[in-house]
Amino acid sequence: MSNGEVFTDIAARYDRLNSILSLGQDQKWRNTVVSRLPSGALLDVGAGTGAANEIFGDREVVALDPSLEMLALNDARHRVVSVGERLPFDDDTFDAVFSAYVFRNLTSVDATMAEIARVLRPGGVAGIVDLGRPVGRIASKVHRFGSSVVLPIAGMAVGAKEEYVYLNGTLDKHPPPEQLLSNTPLSLIETWRLGPLGFVWAALLQKPV
Ligand SMILES: C[S@@+](CC[C@H](N)C(=O)[O-])C[C@H]1O[C@@H](n2cnc3c(N)ncnc32)[C@H](O)[C@@H]1O
Repeated sequence: MSNGEVFTDIAARYDRLNSILSLGQDQKWRNTVVSRLPSGALLDVGAGTGAANEIFGDREVVALDPSLEMLALNDARHRVVSVGERLPFDDDTFDAVFSAYVFRNLTSVDATMAEIARVLRPGGVAGIVDLGRPVGRIASKVHRFGSSVVLPIAGMAVGAKEEYVYLNGTLDKHPPPEQLLSNTPLSLIETWRLGPLGFVWAALLQKPV
């Protein structure tokens, strides 16, 4: 099952299940990043159903996602079907780029970061939040065991077991953010951990002036 199929299949149930799985914390975690982004034009990469729209305030938001089914539920005024690896915008277009719970699904983090760097204006800021594994071998093992049990059960509860088994597999896809984002054209300002055992990570990066 490809990631495109996963999100097309679960679009209608996505927000509810995401909220259950994050114990209702998913918006709070998005907001720790959004609250540190500059005002002005903002690109939401992998915007999905637009769960973050209500916390963007008066920023001018462009929602980008490869899944038409997810975007159809997104009430942003500007919606664009594409992938992070290929952003159909001019250089230096956005003051901020945001991406939540998407990086595990990317085909190429390096290509996406190069594109984000290109479309940000000099001095612009990118904020990313995603799920991964906690830091530390024991916490990571505990979390790996817990998620392999909890995610299929939660998926079964909403008739999407296969999709959530797939999502569990993506949690091990990347190294920690400090390593994942160490070699991009942007300067890494800060990373921090959120959620139980710190299995959620967030990062802020800036385009050099
Ligand atoms: C877990 S959802 C997150 C949606 C939204 N950002 C949120 O916070 O609820 C992941 C989204 O990433 C999108 N996606 C998958 N591959 C992508 C890619 N290569 N570039 C951009 N978005 C992608 C999916 O279609 C899906 O809408």
